Amino acid sequence: MSNRLFLVFFSLCFFVSSLSLSAQVYLDADADLEARIEDALSRMTLREKVDMLHAQSKFSSPGVARLGIAGIWCTDGPHGIRPEVMWDEWNQAGWTNDSCTAFPALTCLAATWNTDLAHAYGVALGEEAVYRNKSVVLGPGVNIYRTPLNGRNFEYMGEDPYLSATMVVPYIKGLQSKGVAACVKHYALNNQEVNRHGYDVEVSDRALYEIYLPAFKAAVMEGKAWSIMGAYNLYKGQHACHNQYLLRDILRGEWGFDGAVISDWGGTHNTDEAVMNGLDLEYGTWTNGTTTNNREYDNYFLADPLLKGIAEGRYTEQQVDEKVRNVLRLIFRTSMNKNRGFGSMVSESHVRTAREVAAEGVVLLKNEGALLPISPKDQHILVVGENAIKMMTVGGGSSQLKVKYEVSPLQGIENKAQEKGGFEVMYERGYTSGEKIIQDNLDFGEKLDDPRTAAQMVSDAVKAAKQADIVIFVGGLNKKPHQDCEDSDRESYNLPYGQDELIKALAEANKRLVVVNVSGNAVAMPWVDKVPAIVQTWYSGTEGGNGLADVLFGDVNACGKLPFSFMKTLKDYPAHQYGEEAYPGVGSRLVYKEDIFVGYRYADKVNNKTTLFPFGHGLSYTTFDYGTAQITNPYRAEQKPVRTTARRMRKKGTPQMKRNESLFITIPITNTGYRDGKEVVQLYIADKKSSLPRPVKELKAFQKVMIKAGETKNVTFAITDDMLRFFDPDKHEWVSEIGDFEAIIGSSATDQRKVVKFQLQD
Ligand code: BGC
Repeated sequence: MSNRLFLVFFSLCFFVSSLSLSAQVYLDADADLEARIEDALSRMTLREKVDMLHAQSKFSSPGVARLGIAGIWCTDGPHGIRPEVMWDEWNQAGWTNDSCTAFPALTCLAATWNTDLAHAYGVALGEEAVYRNKSVVLGPGVNIYRTPLNGRNFEYMGEDPYLSATMVVPYIKGLQSKGVAACVKHYALNNQEVNRHGYDVEVSDRALYEIYLPAFKAAVMEGKAWSIMGAYNLYKGQHACHNQYLLRDILRGEWGFDGAVISDWGGTHNTDEAVMNGLDLEYGTWTNGTTTNNREYDNYFLADPLLKGIAEGRYTEQQVDEKVRNVLRLIFRTSMNKNRGFGSMVSESHVRTAREVAAEGVVLLKNEGALLPISPKDQHILVVGENAIKMMTVGGGSSQLKVKYEVSPLQGIENKAQEKGGFEVMYERGYTSGEKIIQDNLDFGEKLDDPRTAAQMVSDAVKAAKQADIVIFVGGLNKKPHQDCEDSDRESYNLPYGQDELIKALAEANKRLVVVNVSGNAVAMPWVDKVPAIVQTWYSGTEGGNGLADVLFGDVNACGKLPFSFMKTLKDYPAHQYGEEAYPGVGSRLVYKEDIFVGYRYADKVNNKTTLFPFGHGLSYTTFDYGTAQITNPYRAEQKPVRTTARRMRKKGTPQMKRNESLFITIPITNTGYRDGKEVVQLYIADKKSSLPRPVKELKAFQKVMIKAGETKNVTFAITDDMLRFFDPDKHEWVSEIGDFEAIIGSSATDQRKVVKFQLQD
């Protein structure tokens, strides 16, 4: 063929193929999202539509190849991008290019109380997801911390609805800015793992709306999450994945959700409810979420049984269309989002973010005699404990990650000691948790065997402790079943593997003992009075050890705050005060008898007598002084700023606001120490008299501020009517009642620095 002829032939082919392509949906990419959805829908056969509503493999569901509509590729979540798994199995596929950055667990992120870091976390996670061609990250998780036994608390953001809501929104925005959907989980009332497929939660509307829903609501209404995952459990007799109240009435009806509802893996149980009650995408049916049981995807509830039901007139194509629209919206926002970049894995910025979160999440619980930070005098450092050397990204269930690397606490301390010079770091195991964890055939070849008996390990550790200048014990829980791990709850509130006895023995051997507890849950600390310094840290991922060492050596000033209360004993948690119906449930009944009094809301009721370390607590290596608060109502010219000393308040009268007004409280915070540091200034509101019982106070705002040594910064909070409201179950709405309130400003739920009275007027 001559060149000219070839060119004519080629142009003809191109013209013909673009004619046929113009029928394809992806050429309409510039059209308005809803127009694209309708266009795509109008070209699809019923079979293609139904295929789109259920999985085709463990983690993917199909698009329409014929029309050029891409499929959906999901990944866990929520702390990093899960390794590729086999098509039909949980086992990882053994790729060699899918190792990720493990970001710190969400408890750690919540403990930073830093919304900028939550955004950076989302962005970095999104970039890793894009690089791995994922459309949906199965996370974040925002189930409320109801009991310290819940094996999955480490994947969530603590006990307070406001803190969780505030931290989850920037995570979602960051993630979705990369064209990757967040799939907020587990909606809703999945607050324990025991019998997670079988319990039916009985909870008052007040507790539902005030405690268990706000973080989901914020994720949907403020974060604009593109998908949400139905939980395993039931509510009002229906599984959460196809629950009329949760999905139709609240999620779509009250919050206007326009994304896709995805089932948890194995959370779908029947076609009727799935069709009627708002489930869009069915995944993992025939599995319990942890074991593999392959069945044909055509047998899924939203597959052939749905087609059959349409043929028999029980369901309509309109019902299918409603779901397909939601799925197409998800696809156009993610897999076919033309603004998606190329992403990156384990980039410098991801590693930096992981380290910053790891360090800012470290909570200094106790620091008698300023034992920390480690000083040059602490030349001989002894590190004791298995968690100093154990990989913590392995195990725990679906959030397990295959990391490019993971810096252990021991490695982090050694790195830092070497960087600074003049230190000698020694290590003793002290205890063992037994066999290493291998989940989904992921094996990093960790060597954790130790031929010594438990007694020998303790005695070796104690002997070494006597010689050291400072002892850093790194223990806590791990990612094994019945520790911090999906599909089971803890069986005890105490530390496992004889650690309590070991800590006591170490405290006898060396007065300069630091206990670092690594966990996603509170633990009993029967040795609390014997140990001068206690640090809470978390499953902190790739850079965990470096982040911890940054704080232990003082390069980063401690600034994390607890996202949940540490109570003295298990019985001090309200969920454990009402017998088995309240936990772990009797048969399918699980009754949230403590109602709205979860965490500090309960602790306050008993004057914090049972609190070991309160919600919001965390020390710094510096000190902060809270000055005199000034309160103004700019809506009232005549109401002059009131400096809130008792005498002045008496003279000037109590500041007042109406529902459409705001009061502004400004408080100067001074760093009175010698180090720069960040303080989390917390605002709680107390309603002094109300028609329904209310918690003594509730967190309504916070700000994390960096203040240089000797410097003073003003922090201003606006008090608005929505901060004064409670959920009135009879009216089914949020109401505020006129009367007296207090704005309590403090450094934790119990460390109250200023109390400012004000009134809400009609
Ligand atoms: C978990 C989900 C997870 C899913 C997929 C389920 O067992 O509950 O959180 O996203 O598995 O791995």
